Amino acid sequence: MRRRGSWQPELSSSAQTLDGKPIDPKFFMHSKSANPAPGHYNQWQSSTHHIASFNNQWYRKAIEYMQDTNGIKPSLWCGGCHDHALVFSGMMQSHPIREIEHTPQGQVGLGACRATPSCR
Ligand code: HEC
Repeated sequence: MRRRGSWQPELSSSAQTLDGKPIDPKFFMHSKSANPAPGHYNQWQSSTHHIASFNNQWYRKAIEYMQDTNGIKPSLWCGGCHDHALVFSGMMQSHPIREIEHTPQGQVGLGACRATPSCR
């Protein structure tokens, strides 16, 4: 996300949206349909981008511990890179992570859509 919009998911994250509004999490969850070319979706699926979020046990444990000891806010800095579907929709700000880590949005990783021209 380029630093132009006025909406910032949270002050502890330096990420912003272009139009200053939250983004529907569905935008980050169309990796398969947005990558019809043979192999592109499979490449993403076997990449670490696919396991950047709460489908990564080391990351999940780190954020659970952070939130247990310091609350939600500091972990939003991590989420600005690791959890686009949660942070840019506002879900991570409004729910403790233990409540939403097993949702599709918490398990999606970093969607392949963002790097693909067909998504824009
Ligand atoms: C500026 C973006 C950014 C921020 C902010 C960020 N990370 Fe990361 N994180 C990454 C990238 C990129 C990698 C992959 C690095 C690599 O593989 O070389 C990574 C890797 C990780 C990994 C290793 C995952 C694995 O399977 O090897 C963990 C755990 C992790 N980050 C936790 C955190 C936590 C906790 C925070 C907040 C305290 C955080 N990160 C903040 C970008 C970020």
